[in-house]
Amino acid sequence: MHTFWQYILYLLRAKDAHGLHSPFVFELYNDIIASDKWYYDFDTIEDYRDVLLTDTTKIQVTDFGAGSKRLNSPEKLVSDITRYGVSQPYICQLLFKLVDWQQPKTVIELGTSLGINTLYMAAPLPQQANLYTFEGCPAISAIAQKTFDVLPNSKKQIHLLQGNINETLPALLKQLPTIDMVFFDANHAATPTLQYFDWCLTKIHNNSVFIFDDIYWSREMTMAWKKICEHPQATVTIDLFQVGLVFFRKEQPKQHFTLKFA
Ligand SMILES: C[S@@+](CC[C@H](N)C(=O)[O-])C[C@H]1O[C@@H](n2cnc3c(N)ncnc32)[C@H](O)[C@@H]1O
Repeated sequence: MHTFWQYILYLLRAKDAHGLHSPFVFELYNDIIASDKWYYDFDTIEDYRDVLLTDTTKIQVTDFGAGSKRLNSPEKLVSDITRYGVSQPYICQLLFKLVDWQQPKTVIELGTSLGINTLYMAAPLPQQANLYTFEGCPAISAIAQKTFDVLPNSKKQIHLLQGNINETLPALLKQLPTIDMVFFDANHAATPTLQYFDWCLTKIHNNSVFIFDDIYWSREMTMAWKKICEHPQATVTIDLFQVGLVFFRKEQPKQHFTLKFA
């Protein structure tokens, strides 16, 4: 019910490019968020999603996060994880376009699952860039490693860190000078979301971007999203309902936008 009422509120607030006074957000909206540009890689990755959607292999899932609203048993079918635990194509494609636009050198994905979204983020990466993706469950990680074979040219840029993010993320951050992009899609609870946000904040620069998935998944995720928007270092925050974008550009006045998407 929480998500339903939040969606109604979002529909009432959401605007398109008309009346956007920030040139940065205007361009971002027209070129990335509202763009219906299609890339060859989308077909390749979606064909593989179809393969996973028909995969009836049962695996033993170790859950380090808030779990799924629909799948509660520790034994899960790969097809069900694909259907209920992987981002929808329009979200993955937004991430692809953000990577293509920002040309980041260092990308972090918290929550690999079967690796579909990882492929979308890896495909447009510049050559020297690295994508670090985090997954706790060994059985899911093993399937994700096979998913990466779908794009052999991008595979060498993907580094899967298996283990609890509470330990693996601080260890990686110690080694990275800065991060350009983070997709937060692991533990959908307020405390870890805010904790990971704080940790990643220590490595941002002026053009870094954070993307939060499922910001209205529950009351506590909505509360976490509000706190993130209020953070003094977050200058531009954009609510697209399914995901929230956070920019840290010091030249921008602090402003929040609710924009139509998909
Ligand atoms: C929603 S799924 C990620 C979906 C993926 N980003 C996509 O769209 O293709 C969340 C994943 O995060 C993992 N996860 C949750 N909490 C975790 C934690 N604390 N440490 C490691 N992995 C975690 C779960 O095992 C699950 O596979």
